[in-house]
Amino acid sequence: MNQLAALFIFRSFSKNDKRKLGVWAFVSCSLMVISFYALLRAYMGPLPAALNLEMSRNVNIVMVSVVENKAKGDGRISSHKPVTKPKKFGQRLEQICNLSNPRSDYCEIKGDVRVQGNSSTIFIASPSRLGNESDQRDAPWKIRPYARKGDDTAMGRTRELSLEPYNPASKSPGGELIIPNCTKKHRVPGILFSSGGYAGNHFHDFSDVVIPLYVNSRHLKRKVKFLVTDMKPWWLTKFRVLLRALSKYNVIDIDKNQQTHCFPRLIVGLRASTKELSTDLSTASPYGISYTIGNFTSFLRSAYSLQRDTAIQLSVDDKRKPRLLMILRKRTRAFTNQDEIEAEARSLGYDVVATEAMVNLDEFAKVVNSVDVMLGMHGAGLTNFVFLPQRAVVVQVVPLGLEWLAKNDYEVPALSMNLRCLEYKINANESTLFEQYPADHPVLTNPSSVLSKRGWHEFKPIYLDRQNVRIDVSRFRSTLLKALELLHEH
Ligand SMILES: *[C@@H]1O[C@H](CO)[C@@H](O)[C@H](O)[C@H]1NC(C)=O
Ligand SMILES: *[C@@H]1O[C@H](CO)[C@@H](O)[C@H](O)[C@H]1NC(C)=O
Ligand SMILES: *[C@@H]1O[C@H](CO)[C@@H](O)[C@H](O)[C@H]1NC(C)=O
Ligand SMILES: *[C@@H]1O[C@H](CO)[C@@H](O)[C@H](O)[C@H]1NC(C)=O
Ligand SMILES: *[C@@H]1O[C@H](CO)[C@@H](O)[C@H](O)[C@H]1NC(C)=O
Repeated sequence: MNQLAALFIFRSFSKNDKRKLGVWAFVSCSLMVISFYALLRAYMGPLPAALNLEMSRNVNIVMVSVVENKAKGDGRISSHKPVTKPKKFGQRLEQICNLSNPRSDYCEIKGDVRVQGNSSTIFIASPSRLGNESDQRDAPWKIRPYARKGDDTAMGRTRELSLEPYNPASKSPGGELIIPNCTKKHRVPGILFSSGGYAGNHFHDFSDVVIPLYVNSRHLKRKVKFLVTDMKPWWLTKFRVLLRALSKYNVIDIDKNQQTHCFPRLIVGLRASTKELSTDLSTASPYGISYTIGNFTSFLRSAYSLQRDTAIQLSVDDKRKPRLLMILRKRTRAFTNQDEIEAEARSLGYDVVATEAMVNLDEFAKVVNSVDVMLGMHGAGLTNFVFLPQRAVVVQVVPLGLEWLAKNDYEVPALSMNLRCLEYKINANESTLFEQYPADHPVLTNPSSVLSKRGWHEFKPIYLDRQNVRIDVSRFRSTLLKALELLHEH
């Protein structure tokens, strides 16, 4: 079928039908929010006070982070610690740290601050500027500088650092100052963060580390040193270009570091948005500059020297072929009829590239930026849409049971990045689970009930780990046509 005939078929849906569809989508989505909320509460039992509070503030966000956290790890929600401020929290730390952000704890320390990596200690040497000076040391405090607070699995993989406020007036019994001398003095500010947690998962690398790092460091115009804990060598390699674009200095790996690094100013932990893949801090930026997600993606295009700002814009009898990237997954949630899908896309006029997300991000960023449509199964590989040109189309294939995650982890952020999104929700008979369960089995007919009755630990292996998809290409065609239609819109 040629392109024009195809477009005609799509257009033959009346405006009214489309509107009805839209309303229905909205209603069913709202219902889903409510039922998911109820369901998770039933499943998880009473939630910690802080989480409940957060829930009533913004059900969606917490829902997502709860589901997401459970998707990525096996953290038990019941052991979450409340995010309330401890009584012992020292007066001095109170002025420099914020522990009430639901995503991360962070401190901004000005004055004389000394980082001793090998002992995981940050000495705050300068006297308090505001508080009344006392001869006593403020109580020390522990911080884990990774932006997925409340997720035990992530935080369990994040090093705990000790903040030691120190009053220079106090001396040890021997009369010496109980503070290490500086062995390395830095003139520019430092930002200390962890690349532990879920680092390695592309989605989390961006949502938990890269975007928060951008938001917290961009205003410093590369005059900042990054101090990283829990860092693996491959992480540094993966984000080399990006880190270089944010800082002109080499990254300092503080683990097992024998130096005492002294800074005039240090940010510990990264303030982060409560939404996924978002720069939106909801409170005013302390630096007077706030960054939009558009600023972030345009920063990426410049950092990776990506050529295309905007996707192809087709006119009616355009002979150019839009490029479609099909992101493949091998182990879980794979396409079992990749060839058929590719052939279908080609027959509709796409120039198709099919590949797994590459390890070499510099190279893959360029591949992604060269396409107009990204097609992929729900999963971390989709995060690469950050490199797409604006107005490109993301086609997310949504396996059974994963609608919620698909929407909030990928669709919502992609829309915020000036991309267009299409979701292809599979029918039960397109899932490989269809071969494993009778047609009327709740696994196929009612995934939510599986979550509520059997819990996440049974839901996850079924829907996320053991589900592949055989796309019904004749049904999928309309989604591919819709993407073409979008590339024709002005
Ligand atoms: C701490 O963070 C919370 C949540 O982001 C914010 O509402 C509050 O204003 C912050 N407090 C300070 C002292 O910055
Ligand atoms: C950390 O290194 C300093 C300087 O080499 C040393 O004095 C200190 O004992 C070390 N601390 C730990 C916990 O290894
Ligand atoms: C720091 O340096 C001073 C002067 O060089 C020395 O007296 C002191 O013992 C040193 N302190 C420590 C903790 O090494
Ligand atoms: C962010 O993007 C907006 C809109 O394109 C632009 O006006 C603004 O200058 C950008 N901000 C920064 C700090 O780059
Ligand atoms: C798959 O299920 C859909 C909807 O239930 C149905 O319309 C379609 O015919 C089925 N396909 C096959 C190959 O059975």
